[in-house]
Parts: sequence; structure tokens; C-alpha cells
Amino acid sequence: MKVDDVKKCSFQNWYSDFKKVTIKSIILPLPDEFVSYILKDGIVLPKNSGFGYSVPANDSDTESDNDTEETWEDNEEDEPEAPEFLDFDNSIKDAIETLDGKVFPKLNWSSPRDASWIAFNNSCCCTTVSDIYLLLKGSNFITHDLTQSYMLCEDFNELQLNNSESTDQKEKFYLVLRRWTEIDPSGEFRCFVQNGVFIGISQREHSLYFDHIDHHKDAIVEDIVNFYQHHIQSKFPCDNYIFDVYRKTKEKVYLIDFNPFGVVTESLLFSWDELNGGLIKPDGSSLPEFRYVENDRGVQPSSLSHHAIPRDIIDISSGEDSFKLVDLLKLKIEEQNKAHNDDSDEEWKVFDERISFFSSTT
Ligand SMILES: Nc1ncnc2c1ncn2[C@@H]1O[C@H](COP(=O)(O)OP(=O)(O)OP(=O)(O)O)[C@@H](O)[C@H]1O
Ligand SMILES: [Mg+2]
Repeated sequence: MKVDDVKKCSFQNWYSDFKKVTIKSIILPLPDEFVSYILKDGIVLPKNSGFGYSVPANDSDTESDNDTEETWEDNEEDEPEAPEFLDFDNSIKDAIETLDGKVFPKLNWSSPRDASWIAFNNSCCCTTVSDIYLLLKGSNFITHDLTQSYMLCEDFNELQLNNSESTDQKEKFYLVLRRWTEIDPSGEFRCFVQNGVFIGISQREHSLYFDHIDHHKDAIVEDIVNFYQHHIQSKFPCDNYIFDVYRKTKEKVYLIDFNPFGVVTESLLFSWDELNGGLIKPDGSSLPEFRYVENDRGVQPSSLSHHAIPRDIIDISSGEDSFKLVDLLKLKIEEQNKAHNDDSDEEWKVFDERISFFSSTT
């Protein structure tokens, strides 16, 4: 994965060439102060975003007659300052309106999918400025876009050392708002192109089994290969890349996204070792290898569940890391022992006090 390949997958660099085969979107440049706000710790929504934090105005109901009495308003200097991005807010509002009131937000490469659990509707469907800010602030994927987009590129250090244009120039970040579209996960596929050859297709939602995929597997591959040959192959300017598609119905395929060919992109039902080693097609077929979940393995954890709760809890509950479970039990026992000792200490203290009281009165 090279810096230049990652740049080619940045939304604003491909959208205009693929407008006709993808979801309608509006691209807004991110103000520098907004980037700083996203990277700051804590979630304080901007004023006027529709849900912004604001210090409550003094009103007679909350004023105290007693000057010395501390009220909750006295703590206002402890509260973080709510930022204001009036022009940016207005551009977002206009874009939401243009896109019929519901949008899916992302930055140059990533969407805040890992933060959807934080949203009131448990999804990335946004209807207000504050919906968007909440998702962006809560997402690690977004922070990755803003701080580490080229980190894993093989030529990143070299380019930095040479002080080359590619990394020296300040990266421009964008908020991409895409018209909200109901997408049936059984129709989503990830496609791998290596050295200009379409090598593999994987079911995108690989934690679920969809029985109709097996029944229509040939038609699925045929439609996606046709789409690739007509709309992607000679148009996307890289040899190694990954593209995501949505096959809505037979012969109706849409482009969802381009991603770098490297570990920053989930390889789903392939492994990165397999992909890097070059897939060997057993029947010498020129078609990409198609992988999908072939039988119902019951409810599997979603790949995003790892982002919603602490990793340790997942490891402990799934039994993946038995040492963590042992540590947790030890900690629990220690706590209980300590509580018990503290209780006994307390009892001794009371006992001592009683003794000294009696000794002083006798
Ligand atoms: N406009 C949209 N409306 C509704 N849902 C969408 C829209 N665009 C994408 N999605 C859903 O969100 C998912 C993630 O979208 P997208 O691929 O753009 O995000 P991403 O952050 O680039 O993901 P990845 O990290 O896997 O590359 C898609 O698989 C699709 O289910
Ligand atoms: Mg993507």
C-alpha cells in the first residue's frame, strides 16, 4: 500500500468520476478549527448545532438569595467551552436539505460506523447537524482518518524523510454527506483488485448467513464482474485497490466506496496472507473467487461490536483470553478481602474509641 494509492481512494478524489454509479453526495471542506475540535477529548456539542451545550442563563427561579450559597451555576468555569461553527453548520444544513433530509456522513475515507451505538437511533442516519457531530466525535475510525491515514504505507517514512510533497503538504479533510439509502446487507460485496486483476469478492456482512446468496451465486458474480468491466476497470487509476458494491437487484449494481489494498481495509472472508500471496483459482477460471457464508452458524458477533464496549469485556465474555478472566477473579477476591479488612479496621477503631472514652471517664 503506497501513499499515492491511499490518496486515490480519498472520496473527493474519485467521486466526480463515478457520480453516475454511486449514491449522490455533497463534499464540504472541514475547517481547521473543526478538525481540532474533533480531535479534542470529550464530547461537547457545538452551540447552535441543534443540541449544543450551553451554559443556562441566570433566571429568577435558580438564583439564590444567599450570596454565599454555592449553586450549580458557580461551576461554569469547570465546563468545557462549546465551540461555534456557524458557517459550517449552515453548509451542513443546506446539504442535508438538498439530500432530502437524511444523510450518511463520512470523512475522506471512513465513516463513523464504530460510533453508531452512541446515536439515539443506533445508526449512522443523520437528520441534524448535532447527529453528525455526535457520530464524528465518538468515532475512532474518524480519528484514524485525521491522524494516521498514511501510517501503514510502505513509502510513508521514506516520503517523510525526503520531505516530499505527498506528506509535507497539509492534508485537506472533507466531510462527505451521502443521501441516506436503505441498503440490504445481503446485497453488499467487497471486491479485491490486485495488479490490475479482479481476484476476489467477499460477502460484506460476514457475520450473517443469507440463504439466497448461495442460490444466486453465479448471477451475483456475473453482475459484479460486468459492473467492474464497464464502470471501474479502466477508470480507477490504481493497480491495487478494493471497491465495495451494492447489488440491489439483478443487474442493478451500485458503487459504495473505494478502499486501499492493505491491512487498513478489512479483508472479510479472505485473509491478508491469502490476498498478498495471490489467490490461486483451482479451476483456472478467469473469474474472481467468490466467498460468502455458506451455512447458518447461528448468531455471530458483529465486527463492530468490538468498538462499542471495552475490548477486555469482549475477551472475558467470549473466553478468548482466559488470563484476563483469572486476573479479574483475583482482583475481585482482593477487593472483597480488602473490604473485609476495612470493615474489621473500622470495628477496631470504634472499639479503641470506646476504650479510650471509658478510660477517660473512669
Ligand atoms: N448513503 C448511505 N446510506 C445508508 N447506508 C449507507 C450509505 N453509505 C454507506 N452505507 C452503509 O454503511 C456501510 C459503510 O459505508 P462505507 O463503506 O462508506 O464506510 P467505510 O467507513 O468506508 O467502511 P470500511 O471501513 O469498511 O471501508 C456500508 O456498508 C453501507 O451498509
Ligand atoms: Mg471504505
